[in-house]
Amino acid sequence: MTKSANTMWGGRFAAGPDAIMEAINASIGYDRRLAPQDIAGSRAHAAMLAATGIITDNDASAIREGLLTVLSEIETGVFPFSTALEDIHMNVEARLRDLIGEPAGRLHTARSRNDQVAVDFRLWVRDQCDQADEALAALQSALLGQAEAGADWVMPGFTHLQTAQPVTWGHHMLAYVEMFARDRSRFADARRRMNTSPLGAAALAGTSFPIDRQMTADALGFDRPMSNSLDAVADRDFALEFLASASICAMHLSRLAEELVIWSSAQFRFVKMSDKWSTGSSIMPQKRNPDAAELIRAKIGRIFGANVALMTVMKGLPLTYSKDMQEDKEQTFDAADNLMLALAAMTGMAADMTAERENLKAAASGGFSTATDLADWLVRELGLPFREAHHVTGSLVAMAEGKNCDLPDLTLADMQTVHGGIRADVFDVLGVENSVASRTSFGGTAPSQVRAQVAHWKEVLK
Ligand code: ARG
Repeated sequence: MTKSANTMWGGRFAAGPDAIMEAINASIGYDRRLAPQDIAGSRAHAAMLAATGIITDNDASAIREGLLTVLSEIETGVFPFSTALEDIHMNVEARLRDLIGEPAGRLHTARSRNDQVAVDFRLWVRDQCDQADEALAALQSALLGQAEAGADWVMPGFTHLQTAQPVTWGHHMLAYVEMFARDRSRFADARRRMNTSPLGAAALAGTSFPIDRQMTADALGFDRPMSNSLDAVADRDFALEFLASASICAMHLSRLAEELVIWSSAQFRFVKMSDKWSTGSSIMPQKRNPDAAELIRAKIGRIFGANVALMTVMKGLPLTYSKDMQEDKEQTFDAADNLMLALAAMTGMAADMTAERENLKAAASGGFSTATDLADWLVRELGLPFREAHHVTGSLVAMAEGKNCDLPDLTLADMQTVHGGIRADVFDVLGVENSVASRTSFGGTAPSQVRAQVAHWKEVLK
């Protein structure tokens, strides 16, 4: 038996699609997530059609009421989704027809699935920008809590993952607060740019009906209608901007996750992850694995992947709509889901972890981390050119290395064999606490600077 043609567009078709055609064509398996946006868009469209006299008020009321019934059926899980009906737009419209009859057929006046899907997806991505902003603010607050508690806890600062100079825990936490602030501003920029309405572009050329595009734009919270109907149905750069912002944010999350993996290892012991965010090993009883951090680090790949995938789908597509564009949704959904999960997990880990203050300090004191302070002292106190001071300090580091001790453990007499002018007060700058306290330049690691930044961020985030 041949399947019958599609009831939405099958007028000129004698037979229905092959089963595999149906499988490759259908998006209802994933675009059902757009139901709330689809129904909001349709309700706005119906109200506008009535206000402009294109359909009657009675028909518009029946449509708008019926769509609410459809929404509640979807929300309660009783909606009869059909693959034969391809996508969320036709599933909703077909069900509306079952519920209210003939007026349902008037809903699609002056509209196409091309502007319909563009508006639905824009609304969905816009909402994700808002959710990302909220989740990032929560993460910033968790990191700020850490920064405030440990504004003056010294730890090693690294370059090349080699001990460089002592910094403070609070300073390190605030570095991420800054990164996540820029991530928030990227989502906010993307949101601002995407907040224009494609609805009313119809298939691609606009419509001969006297529609009011500003009215539907207003009803859906858009700033204004998009100015070019071809662009309106062909554009997916709003989703790409979301994915690009998500990718950069994910990259930041991955760097923090990597630090947590390193810091929670037995070799570092800089942080103790809470039980809530660790797992054990089934064979090695001593293990506490930072699985959540590792999974955040790994999930980032899917977000980068979605960004590359959609760029690749869109490149080379002639204007305007092509069915290729149906492939915009699934990976964007996946990227957004995983970004939100990673943000929530990172927020929990950051809030619940304990910095091991003593271990941080012990590590900060090793690795000749105050060598730069010594060189600076030679410049400031003895008037040496920095290059010479660097050389003298290098010799002292080599001496300490030979004696298997740290710089502050050298005696004054030892030091004077390298440079006769060195005085006892050099030891004042060799302690790690002195070192960090002296870095008071704006944005520096001194506890006084860190506290000022903490106060600033508390104001911003409250
Ligand atoms: N399911 C389609 C999509 O996601 C909706 C638009 C279909 N438009 C069309 N002309 N076939 O892109």
